Amino acid sequence: MIYLDNAATTLRKPEGVAAAVAQALTSMGNSGRGAHDAALDASRVIYEARERLDRLFHAGGAQRIAFTANATQSLNTAIKGTLRSGDHVITTALEHNSVLRPLYEMQARGVELTVIPADTKGRIRYEAFEEAVRGNTRAIVCTHGSNLTGNVTDIARVGSIAGAHGLLLIADASQTAGVFDIDMQRMGIDILCFTGHKGLMGPQGTGGIAVREGVHVRPLLTGGSGIMTYSREHPDRMPTALEAGTLNGHGIAGLNAALAFLEETGLDVIRRYEQALMHAFHDAVTAIPGITVYGDFEEEERCAIVSLNVRDYDSAEVSDALYTQYGIATRPGAHCAPLMHQALGTVEQGAVRFSFSYFNTMDEVHAAAAALRELAME
Ligand code: ALA
Repeated sequence: MIYLDNAATTLRKPEGVAAAVAQALTSMGNSGRGAHDAALDASRVIYEARERLDRLFHAGGAQRIAFTANATQSLNTAIKGTLRSGDHVITTALEHNSVLRPLYEMQARGVELTVIPADTKGRIRYEAFEEAVRGNTRAIVCTHGSNLTGNVTDIARVGSIAGAHGLLLIADASQTAGVFDIDMQRMGIDILCFTGHKGLMGPQGTGGIAVREGVHVRPLLTGGSGIMTYSREHPDRMPTALEAGTLNGHGIAGLNAALAFLEETGLDVIRRYEQALMHAFHDAVTAIPGITVYGDFEEEERCAIVSLNVRDYDSAEVSDALYTQYGIATRPGAHCAPLMHQALGTVEQGAVRFSFSYFNTMDEVHAAAAALRELAME
C-alpha cells in the first residue's frame, strides 16, 4: 500500500514508538497513584513528554501541558471551558467539526458566533477578524492549518489581533503540530489544542491542551486526580486541572518516543521534505487535463496536503479506484470540514485528499500522479 492519508493519521511511526508502547504495557504503573517504581516510572515518562511538548510549543512550563485523548477533547475543553452565555466568539470557515460543533452547541447556549468566510481557494481576509470584534468578544478560535486545503493560517497575525483587543486565541494545531514551528508566547496563542497521532507521530488516543499562565479553563471532566482527595472540587492547578482519571500512559510513552525522534530530526528537516513531496505531486497533477486542485499554492508555507477532483467523478469513487486498482490510500468525501467544502463548491462531489508524511518517498508521489493520469483518461 502507498499510504497517502497522513492528515487523518500518520500510519508509519518512528522506530521506537511501538517499542515504547510495548514496554509501557508490561511495566508502567499508574502515574500519581502509587509510590512504587512502576507508578514513579509512569510519572517520569509522562513528565518527560510534557517537557518535550513545552519545548516544542513554548507553553511556559511543562505544567502548562495537559494530556487529553485527542484534539477534539482539547477543543471541547477550550471552547466550553472559556465561553459563557452572552460572550461573542470569532472563528473561520476553515474549521473542522471539532471546532464548529462545540461552537454551535455554545451558540445554542447563548454565545454569539461570527464565522470569517473563505474564498474559493480557501483563503481568509485577516482584516475580517478585526472587523468582527465587538464589545463582548471573548475569543478567536482558529485553525493553524486546514485539513482539507492544507492552507496554513498566519497564526501570529491572528494572535496580534487577539492581543490588541484582549481576546483569547484558541488555536487548533491538529494539522501542524510536529511539522511547523509553534511558539505560543511569540504567536500570542493562549490555548493550543493538538493531537498526538498526526504530525507528532505518536499513537492514537493521545493529544493535549497547552494553556498559557494566567488563562483559566474550566474542566470538561472532573474526578480522580491522585491529589487533594478530600476536596469536593477538582484541583484547579495545571495540569491536573484538565486531567481527570488515569491518563493514557501507554500511549503517552509512545508519544514521548515520537517527540524524541522529532527533536533529533528537526521540524525544519521534516517540513522541507514533506513540502518537497507535496509540491512535486502538485506540479505533476496540475499538468493532467481534467484535474481540479483546491487550495492556495502560491503561499510557500502550507501543509503537505493536496486535495483534488478528477473531472466530475464522485470523490469516493476515485478514492476507491485509487485503492483497489493501485493500492493508494487517500481520503475522499467531506473531511469533517463542511464550511470549507461550501467555500470550495465541493459539497456534492467532495474531494480526494492526498496527504504526505516524512516517511513517504518521491517514488510514491510519482506512482500516485501516474495513477491519477490513468484515471483522468478513463
Ligand atoms: N481530522 C482528520 C482528517 O482530517 C481525521 O482526516
